[in-house]
Amino acid sequence: TFGIAELESSLAALHLTAPRSVVEPTDILTNPLDVCRSLLADILSGLVESSPEAAYKSIQWPNNIYNGDLAVVLPKLRPGCKAADLALDIAQKVRTLVSFLLPYASLSVTQFPQNHPLFPLPFLENVHLRILLEVDAFARLLFPFILKHGDSYGTDATRGLRSSLSPDEGRKKLVVEFSSPNITNELHGRHLRSTIIGAFIGNFYESMGWDVTRINYLGDWGKNIALLKVGWERFGDEAKYQANPIEHLLEVFEKINNLFQPEVAASRHARDEAAKHGQDEGQVQAEIENQGIYAERNTVFKKLENGDEEAIGFWKRVRDVNIENYTDFYSQLGISFNEYTGESQVSTETMVEVETLLKEGNICEESSGAWVVHMQHHGLRAGTAIIRGRDGATTYLLRDLAAMIERSRKYSFDKMIIVTANDHNTPHFTHLHHILVALGKKDLADKIQHLKFNETSNMEETLGKGYKPQAIISHIETAMTTELETNRQKSIIFGEPEKSSKALSIASLLAHELSTRTTSAHSFDTGDMTTFKLGTGPDLQYWYAKLRTVLKSRDAEVELSDADYESLVEDESASNLLRLLAQYPEVTRTTYNSSVPQPDDIVKYLAGVTEQLADCLNNDDDAEDGEQREAEAGNEAEAEEKTFGPGHLTLFEATRIVLENGLKLLGITPYATE
Ligand code: ARG
Repeated sequence: TFGIAELESSLAALHLTAPRSVVEPTDILTNPLDVCRSLLADILSGLVESSPEAAYKSIQWPNNIYNGDLAVVLPKLRPGCKAADLALDIAQKVRTLVSFLLPYASLSVTQFPQNHPLFPLPFLENVHLRILLEVDAFARLLFPFILKHGDSYGTDATRGLRSSLSPDEGRKKLVVEFSSPNITNELHGRHLRSTIIGAFIGNFYESMGWDVTRINYLGDWGKNIALLKVGWERFGDEAKYQANPIEHLLEVFEKINNLFQPEVAASRHARDEAAKHGQDEGQVQAEIENQGIYAERNTVFKKLENGDEEAIGFWKRVRDVNIENYTDFYSQLGISFNEYTGESQVSTETMVEVETLLKEGNICEESSGAWVVHMQHHGLRAGTAIIRGRDGATTYLLRDLAAMIERSRKYSFDKMIIVTANDHNTPHFTHLHHILVALGKKDLADKIQHLKFNETSNMEETLGKGYKPQAIISHIETAMTTELETNRQKSIIFGEPEKSSKALSIASLLAHELSTRTTSAHSFDTGDMTTFKLGTGPDLQYWYAKLRTVLKSRDAEVELSDADYESLVEDESASNLLRLLAQYPEVTRTTYNSSVPQPDDIVKYLAGVTEQLADCLNNDDDAEDGEQREAEAGNEAEAEEKTFGPGHLTLFEATRIVLENGLKLLGITPYATE
């Protein structure tokens, strides 16, 4: 572990003391750049007579090591001043920087180094003062920081505390709802995306100290279930079901749905016609829906809602077998849920409670026998939200309203994130929010966040229609096996392709899904995700495995000498790698502070680390020759391995920690070859 004592001792070795002007919320124990930021804020606030808070806030992290390690945004440092004037002022004063450091020096004036151990003179660029940390000193601070933190490096358990002052008040509660497939249909691309993004959100908040509950809100109620039962009565075959239940149920649903769709089209048409001729649309529609499969379906649904034993028995069987199938799929992805809930699990009492409130508050009204909310009375421009259908059946919306209230009672969460596709659900969640507000539950409404992602996914095109969850994995495995067989130069590190293929396939899928920004359209190319291109699952795993190999020669006990640190300063790619590792907590902090934590920022960061690592491992003059030789031999193990001193090996150990922590955050199990 790493606490204030550890921080003070590594700072003391640099003749520094812990930052004075610590600003809440400070991250000096979790974020090494924050130590530097706070130390710099001490200096700056003395220099320009600004408050330590303003000084601290003026220091940014430039997101890219080529712009330095920290940047002071001058207009923020002294609001209202001209950047150029302030820059000039500082430029003159930094020459005498040393005098401002006296309070922090633990040595006497004569012994004090002429320059600050961490901050060489900053350079000025437009409105920024750019700071490039002194690598030698920074390494002395950073190594113990990362090594002692170990698997907590980049996490921050204090974020989730209800109160940082009195930890007894417990941790913040997050409910994350994700995956939520519909049991009558295949798992769609959007459910797969929701599964993987939602799992990441859960891991991420957990790493930030939140108490996380993961729930799967199955589409396991409603008219489609009733339609499936109607289909089962015609096409159901017990023997086929026994042989492959999921496949058979999907087949039954498809058959009945094919028969049903013309009726749906006819109803729609009749309604449009009625509207054209000024007739009562509801009436016309009701007439059509009183016959055929419509009527059969509605009767079955009514039975379900009334708790008819036989209907419920069928529903339960279908639900259980699907949950079993999903659970198996999720567990292959390393994902699990605390609770399988679903539309079916919402209690009638709560729905009635909601409905009564809606009626008493005149929020909903009757319209051709249905109960609806006209959204223009509730903060939206237009839209009609249906609470209960003409036939008296509950709706998706009513179930969801009641579900939200039940969850808030059950979990008293601080935040609930619902991960589901944008295109599909946005109006629904907007209605939900505004109706909760109308019900006087603004507090609850504000705690619910719809993490919407772009639904566009060509998974269907890639895998063909009718795929089951297992088919997704098999497709990727086929592609992965081919890649492992063809790219021996990289795959050799994993040993036997058959053994590693499965693990790497899962890594491919997870890294792929998480590397697309949630708002972007998303391709699903199994060939692409299984390559060893920068930032893919297999490539991240490759560099992790590579590190483990290199680290075999590391002696963890050895104390680094001045010469070891010197060797890092002299090696530019090693210095850059080191500076990059320091940014990891900044990356996670930025992710945490954004309104939607974006996993692709983490993937990009890790890809950047492996790119820099590659540079560092190959950084000798004959690297190119070496690669040539390796490629010819087709066997990396035969190529001469470079040897590294203790300084570099410590850097690689720190890199392993960062890579491992990052992979785990993405839900990827680091693949160990032995
Ligand atoms: N089952 C829905 C679908 O497939 C997603 C459920 C979203 N969550 C909710 N609370 N409505 O689109």
